[in-house]
Amino acid sequence: MHVLITGGAGFIGSHSAEALLASGARVTVLDDFSSGKRANLPATPGLTVICGDIRDSSAVDKALASISHVLHLAAQVSVPASVADPLGSSRQNIQGFLNVLDGARRAKVARFVYASSAAVYGVPVHLPLDEASPVAPLSPYGLEKSINDQYAALYRELYGLSTLGLRYFNVYGPRQDPASPYAGVISRFAAAMANGEPLRVFGDGGQTRDFIFVGDVARLNLRALASPATGVCNVATGHSVTLLELIDALAKCAACTPQIRHEPTACGDIRHSAASPRRMLELFGHLNMTPLTEGLRQLLASME
Ligand SMILES: NC(=O)c1ccc[n+]([C@@H]2O[C@H](COP(=O)([O-])OP(=O)(O)OC[C@H]3O[C@@H](n4cnc5c(N)ncnc54)[C@H](O)[C@@H]3O)[C@@H](O)[C@H]2O)c1
Repeated sequence: MHVLITGGAGFIGSHSAEALLASGARVTVLDDFSSGKRANLPATPGLTVICGDIRDSSAVDKALASISHVLHLAAQVSVPASVADPLGSSRQNIQGFLNVLDGARRAKVARFVYASSAAVYGVPVHLPLDEASPVAPLSPYGLEKSINDQYAALYRELYGLSTLGLRYFNVYGPRQDPASPYAGVISRFAAAMANGEPLRVFGDGGQTRDFIFVGDVARLNLRALASPATGVCNVATGHSVTLLELIDALAKCAACTPQIRHEPTACGDIRHSAASPRRMLELFGHLNMTPLTEGLRQLLASME
């Protein structure tokens, strides 16, 4: 297997590169380093790193030479940034996506796996969310990811390209940049705790989310690349916790008592989110997922 990982220097990408290299695959990373870091990746002969932009189709085509499998993760990853600049976001997440998808078709790769998102679902009509739940995105980012799902399905029909969209829920773990204004809530809380600052909770903290450890996502990505499964698939633990439960678990791991500062509910915040991982388990088997407290412990250790 020679895998092209777009966005491979980022959070999920670098963990996926590590897992693939450990499995014996060759890996090429295409990343523009807008948020990813070279230091996230090991220096090893099985890995080639190319600095390039997915919006540049010639850079994408060059990176696809001799590739058998694609893991497309590069994206404009911020919901607020997509609301502030929908055109810029679509150039990355629709045009950039299509550059990689069409390049993969022309390069005749065996498999195209890409990052979709739980954001495609919008406000849930029923819980838990499964892949047949209505798609009703609340942001340009969510819409772009659902358009990715439609393009991937069409390419499967039209050209026979084997495509699978992974609808990641809330991924957390080492290397998620807490300095980014769009960092996941866990890395923001962990960084605030480390700095002795209060944790900012929007609303009462009763909102629920499904948090999945990045190491488990990387292993899942590997299985997804090796499998013939197509369509879309939730990537989640199936166990949601409230933000207050999350803070409690984090505080226990860090052996401290953080201050919580409640702020008005953020506009558009979804109250409850829960995912059905049934299709994921059927397709890829049990992953022996990292328990939340263990994942939090690894995150805190990585910050020391
Ligand atoms: N982290 C999550 O909880 C989560 C949830 C749902 C979906 N996703 C999706 O998973 C994928 C990976 O997310 P992440 O959390 O690792 O984010 P990340 O920001 O850490 O990684 C994205 C990587 O893509 C690179 N990149 C951005 N624009 C690029 C471009 N135009 N050309 C080439 N490289 C570019 C960045 O430098 C970075 O290395 C994204 O598609 C994201 O939308 C993530």
